[in-house]
Amino acid sequence: MKTKLVKVQQIEDCSMQMKEAAELIRRGEVVAFPTETVYGLGGNGLLEEAVHKIYEAKGRPSDNPLILHVCDMAMTESLVQEIPETARKAMDYFWPGPMTVILPKAEKVPSCVTGGLSTVAVRMPAHKTALRLIQEAKVPIAAPSANTSGRPSPTKAEHVMEDLDGRIPMILDGGAVKVGVESTIVDFSEAVPVILRPGRITKMELEKVIGCPVRMNTAFLGKDNGVPKAPGMKYKHYAPKADMTIVLGERKAVIAKINCLAVKQKELGNRVGVICTDETVEEYTADDVVSVGRRCNMETVTAKLYDVLRGFDHKDVDIIYSEGFEEEPLSEAVMNRLVKAAGHKIIRI
Ligand code: TXA
Ligand code: MG
Repeated sequence: MKTKLVKVQQIEDCSMQMKEAAELIRRGEVVAFPTETVYGLGGNGLLEEAVHKIYEAKGRPSDNPLILHVCDMAMTESLVQEIPETARKAMDYFWPGPMTVILPKAEKVPSCVTGGLSTVAVRMPAHKTALRLIQEAKVPIAAPSANTSGRPSPTKAEHVMEDLDGRIPMILDGGAVKVGVESTIVDFSEAVPVILRPGRITKMELEKVIGCPVRMNTAFLGKDNGVPKAPGMKYKHYAPKADMTIVLGERKAVIAKINCLAVKQKELGNRVGVICTDETVEEYTADDVVSVGRRCNMETVTAKLYDVLRGFDHKDVDIIYSEGFEEEPLSEAVMNRLVKAAGHKIIRI
């Protein structure tokens, strides 16, 4: 299959291409499109055949459920049984935006979308191209991140090409995304709302808006009667080709430790990469030192994280040491992804 790459910078100038993309979706094909968080691989969320195509293109296990993307509240209401007051407050405030809500599903949602669960994940993305695509297609769009299963989520159309070229008919290229990590997933199907996956919207922000406590699933492995609460969490996640370790502690001590480890690795004949921040990038002596953004502005870090991790797969390094994040506002979202990439290898000093 030939993959058509369509640039969508000014949505107003691309109505033909948007119609073509929406027509593909309606016909049961899949199309990759930008959202504010990461690129999604979209298909008609009410059509089993389309949902199977998504799983196939990604190589994703079919018991890992998908998020349905909507463009308005009427569409949301048609997909769920009821919306509790807390969920409604959160949607009013954060939508369109990087938050996914889990609610009991309506009958019309096919069980292949929810991996057999009685709940469904719904999100209204804050991206003109995504919203227009859903409006034109006139159906909720089921979309996981547009990477092949096990790779970092794509934050640029080039990343989607890298993974899915030849496997899908079309990619809408909206340039680099703004947020860079996947949406915060909040389960509103229980009495106390639970964050199943941390993202740009934090626990504190959520609690402030809905006016009641929110639980954080810190293990991100929460199990309920043997069924993982966010099934995606049980699968193997991205690990770079090079062996990666996170070093946590006071800034000066971390720099000294990483430089010392790098020297030792060089003596063993290994090439060493370092993931650090703008504040410390001049302090390292390894072979390949890459800043992931500014620690004092964590939005720059979420935006660059996956691009930096993907970048290391094209580089000739054997070992990666990464600075960690603990005190910063979006530490949970960033560390959740870094720790998985490092296969839980952490040195604390
Ligand atoms: O930002 C995002 O959320 C992106 C963009 C494209 O919208 N999408 C995304 O989708 O990250 P995906 O499929 O890569 O991750 C969806 C996660 C998975 O971990 C899945 O297990 C979980 O949501 N999930 C989906 N439905 C669920 C449900 N009913 N209950 C619990 N977890 C659910
Ligand atoms: Mg994903």
